Amino acid sequence: MPEYMSGFGNSFETEALPDTLPVGRNSPQRVAHGLYAEQLSGSPFTAPRASNERSWLYRIRPSVLHSGRFERVDAGLWRSAPESETHLPLGQLRWDPVPLPDTAQSFLDGVVTVTTAGDVSTHNGMASHLYLITESMVDDYFYNADGELLFVPEQGNVRFWTEFGVIDTEPGEIAVIPRGVKFRVELLGGPARGYLCENYGGAFTLPERGPIGANCLANPRDFLTPVAAYEDRDGMASRLTVKWGGALWRTELAHSPLDVVAWHGNYAPYKYDLRRYSPVGPLLFDHADPSIFTVLTSPSETPGTANVDFVIFPDRWLVAEDTFRPPWYHMNVMSEFMGLVYGAYDAKPHGFVPGGFSLHNSMTPHGPDLEAFEGASAADLTPQRLQGTLAFMFETRYPQRVSAHAAAMPGLQQDYADCWSGLRRHFR
Ligand code: FE2
Repeated sequence: MPEYMSGFGNSFETEALPDTLPVGRNSPQRVAHGLYAEQLSGSPFTAPRASNERSWLYRIRPSVLHSGRFERVDAGLWRSAPESETHLPLGQLRWDPVPLPDTAQSFLDGVVTVTTAGDVSTHNGMASHLYLITESMVDDYFYNADGELLFVPEQGNVRFWTEFGVIDTEPGEIAVIPRGVKFRVELLGGPARGYLCENYGGAFTLPERGPIGANCLANPRDFLTPVAAYEDRDGMASRLTVKWGGALWRTELAHSPLDVVAWHGNYAPYKYDLRRYSPVGPLLFDHADPSIFTVLTSPSETPGTANVDFVIFPDRWLVAEDTFRPPWYHMNVMSEFMGLVYGAYDAKPHGFVPGGFSLHNSMTPHGPDLEAFEGASAADLTPQRLQGTLAFMFETRYPQRVSAHAAAMPGLQQDYADCWSGLRRHFR
């Protein structure tokens, strides 16, 4: 079982071999055990302290050692913003789950882009992907220069072997792998399916809590970063694939790049169990904005305007009196990609199933379907427990473009808008 250190954005230090980390300095003339020292900068050197991220890695070989060049390779179904290859009619969109394939595919060929937003080359915006994995990466490694990766497992347990250590995840948890961190994805048991947010913008961080105070929502101590662990593999034929500038590139290595024996710093991958999220919400009447359920936010240069928010709709009590309890009818400057990990979502009791996804784009109207409206309008407003449910949203300031592949998916529900068509006139 992997071991972890608790805390969000801490300055961690960890070593897989004792007496590896230099004491009181980063780059001594000779590193212990004959290792190389290498810095990984997640922010510009001069970023303010609150957003300054870097780690020092003590590794068997420096990252600069590879075959000499990265050759461009087929990116499969992985797309990047800006992308305007399809022109679906504007409207609310929803898809059935995409089945796992019968063929062998690793994470490298298992990323399927649904939407892109912003511009990968200016580090603004994001992409919403699915991942469909039936095979572990063995001698393959990957890192993403375009953005950090937020994995939301929906089916199957996945192990991330990273430069910083090992992270295990199951549905109900998330994992975040920062830009530039090398890793490979291994299946633990059966195939795996889930959602993936590729965040081109500022690193995910915890939202401010304002008047909520020092506790609740996602608490820092529940975020887990792995202890150092390394692969000492030589004389092998391995490949390192990089996503850079919206394309995939590949080089050959004769060793494992996961050869970091010790590291310290605040730039590292982490996991979080969404079931530890402590929701805060309406106690007497009316409805808070869904931002009350933000787990992580990628800030932009404009205060209060997220590049991406990661928001969940977890188990909770509904207790508000004289209140329409489901999410209200809505038009939003932000665009909303939604997925469902398990259970049912209260605004869409049918048709939105685990593994499925929906897109309510910038200024596209949406809200409870007929069934949810009629149920909630007539409901006896006793306290109600939403149980065994976990929906989430990737919400970005940018409009989201649907990929050509997603636009042609057989699971695109042509009748989605019919779920509102029975909303009758009640005006008297
Ligand atoms: Fe909305």
